[in-house]
Amino acid sequence: MEGRFTAPGKIILFGEHAVVYGKPAIAIPVSGMRATAWSEPGENGITINAMDVNKKIKLSTDKNQFSVLAQSILAITDRQEPNLTINLTSKLPQGSGMGSSAATSTAVCRALSGHLGVDLDANEISELVFEAEKIVHGTPSGIDNTVVAYEMPVYFIKGQNPETFEPGKLFRLVIGDTGIEAPTKETVANVRKAWQNEPGLMEGYFDEIEKITRNGKIAIESGNAEQVGELMDENHELLNSIGVGHKILEELVEIAREKGALGAKLTGGGGGGNMVALAEDKETQKKICEAITEAGYSAYQTSFGEQV
Ligand code: PMV
Repeated sequence: MEGRFTAPGKIILFGEHAVVYGKPAIAIPVSGMRATAWSEPGENGITINAMDVNKKIKLSTDKNQFSVLAQSILAITDRQEPNLTINLTSKLPQGSGMGSSAATSTAVCRALSGHLGVDLDANEISELVFEAEKIVHGTPSGIDNTVVAYEMPVYFIKGQNPETFEPGKLFRLVIGDTGIEAPTKETVANVRKAWQNEPGLMEGYFDEIEKITRNGKIAIESGNAEQVGELMDENHELLNSIGVGHKILEELVEIAREKGALGAKLTGGGGGGNMVALAEDKETQKKICEAITEAGYSAYQTSFGEQV
């Protein structure tokens, strides 16, 4: 068996949906939840063994995120298809805004390039995974593959070089899962319909979100958690206005705020999926997490920025 290759999940702190329309967004890696891939000798070319869903994908017969990715890697490295099984497992829930598809693709990309002895940098990995993301998400902005491949907070504008940045302090988050799968492809398509029907109104919302994201970056860099929280609340309202809210997301946001969150918002595509809340300290973080769990949902604590 060769080495294990991993990639983190991610969440979007500011700017989802608006990012599809050229606005900036901020995403952070969730390093504690990862996809893992490792390779072993196989036969008849490459097989991706997606262990969690009990599916074996062959390059020659299947077209999905992994076969597209593997074909691209072989093409850019000018290699013949090796006889190889790449095993894949992931701790990330699917279709819930945590970057599951980007993380699994990145882990597979690292395992295959590792086997081929090819050294790919974060930007090359991100670009390869972007091709695979298009298979899953239709017209993704590219934020997921960027934050997952770099494993750093990123300030992202579609079509521009991603900017990684350093938070001014440790930020503590709770992620609450509605348990409702809401494919990003669908929520993005719904927002597009709304934009086609009322471009002026929707672009007004996107402009507001842009201001929040810009201020969010400054607040994160200067370590101003209170302001980050306020901006998260504002971003959440705007996401409701553009039509990607859900009543269970509201319930989770309410629980988090009641337990003392500095701010809370839906994260990612919305329409279900996950909520993210910011906590001032470890105790509040734990309280929010427990309250969400007691209400019958799964919750997860994570953090980003420097350790204090
Ligand atoms: O649901 P997620 O976390 O994959 O995020 C989707 C983010 C969107 O802005 C809604 C779409 C995109 O491609 O950026």
